[in-house]
Amino acid sequence: MSLVRRDTAGQLHVEEASLAEIARQFGTPCYVYSRAALTAAYDGYRAALAGRDALICYAVKANSNLAILNVFARLGAGFDIVSGGELARVIKAGGDPAKVVFSGVGKSRHEMRAALEAGILCFNVESASELETLNEIAGSLGKRAPVSLRVNPNVDPKTHPYISTGLKTAKFGIPFAEALPLYRRARELPHLAVHGIDCHIGSQLLDPAPAAEAAAKILGLVDALAAEGIALSHIDVGGGMGIRYRDEAAPAATDYLAPLLKVLTGRTERLLFEPGRSLVGNAGLLLTRVEVLKHGEEKNFAVVDAAMNDLARPALYDAWHDMVKVGAGSTANGQKRYEIVGPICESGDFLGHDRDLDLAEGDLLAILSAGAYGMAMSSNYNTRPRAAEVLVDGATAHLVRRREEVAQLFALEAVLP
Ligand code: LLP
Repeated sequence: MSLVRRDTAGQLHVEEASLAEIARQFGTPCYVYSRAALTAAYDGYRAALAGRDALICYAVKANSNLAILNVFARLGAGFDIVSGGELARVIKAGGDPAKVVFSGVGKSRHEMRAALEAGILCFNVESASELETLNEIAGSLGKRAPVSLRVNPNVDPKTHPYISTGLKTAKFGIPFAEALPLYRRARELPHLAVHGIDCHIGSQLLDPAPAAEAAAKILGLVDALAAEGIALSHIDVGGGMGIRYRDEAAPAATDYLAPLLKVLTGRTERLLFEPGRSLVGNAGLLLTRVEVLKHGEEKNFAVVDAAMNDLARPALYDAWHDMVKVGAGSTANGQKRYEIVGPICESGDFLGHDRDLDLAEGDLLAILSAGAYGMAMSSNYNTRPRAAEVLVDGATAHLVRRREEVAQLFALEAVLP
């Protein structure tokens, strides 16, 4: 299902809302999301997991806007968080802390305390040191911390090196060989309750085989633990399912999960999933306006009002995002090959290379597949206020984050007396 469609006049819409109208009302750059697309993506997982005891914990880092979290909370989702800040967002958005798993290699004492007080479902522990600290903090609060060990299965997820996490060279997880001794240690610690095991091998995975391979490795451990009397109640297989950005053969949730679920056939443990990108990525776009057309000696440039501070993925990972014109019809300029760039003072500030488009200054462009790791990774570089965010529900476009104002950007700063 495509997020956008053209009406009979050729104007681009998200659900029943016109993008030109959204730009007029809320300005650009502006992130636009679709409630129907979020729900459809979540339902894809639900259908794939029908009949299983499973919890879908949306990975908040992909897009942490309160309205998005609230849509998932209303659908019954749990959440995968990586900071105290994300926990506060989940609670503010109406999420249930009892469905929250807490991942991350460097949880602070303060964050552990907040999560214990909130009563989260499980801490995904990533080191021996974290295990000891958590035990100590839980003891000081008179609580037992529910834990799972994030095990590094040493499986190659075959994705971009920056988003591969499950190889033994990565900083993530507990080395496979050290997992058993660490579970034994966890069992001895009085303020911990051993509940589960988890792994997450990487992101934007298009081939389901590595995730199934990781699950099989993990199961070996689960059985070895059971033989020692350490019975786990859940298995968390992380997130990572990829989406289509350009022409990738991105799997549907049922197809991606099938090999994994096959490996898990007959298991009685509850299954946890931590999808981020696949729930929000293709449910959002970045709406931007062409400010300037420039014709260099070798290249044509379309300078738009969005930049790498709004969408870092092209600059950071050389990621491709499709772009489509919002309006209909052709211009006097005709189709040309453009570099789509932002106004930031760096050559790395591009949103797309070599795009064949028929553009005029003032045109609106929709940069697709921007719902995941878009706004969430934005910054204020060049003192650029961050974009507005709009969530479309049917024909109504709800403003779910106001555009920042310049004065807010330096409100926390001070000059010398
Ligand atoms: N669980 C853990 C422990 C994770 O580290 C991640 C993502 C997820 C779940 C969700 O993975 P997903 O289903 O979204 O693939 N900024 C990068 C992606 C970084 C992913 C980091 N970890 C990008 O824009 O491609």
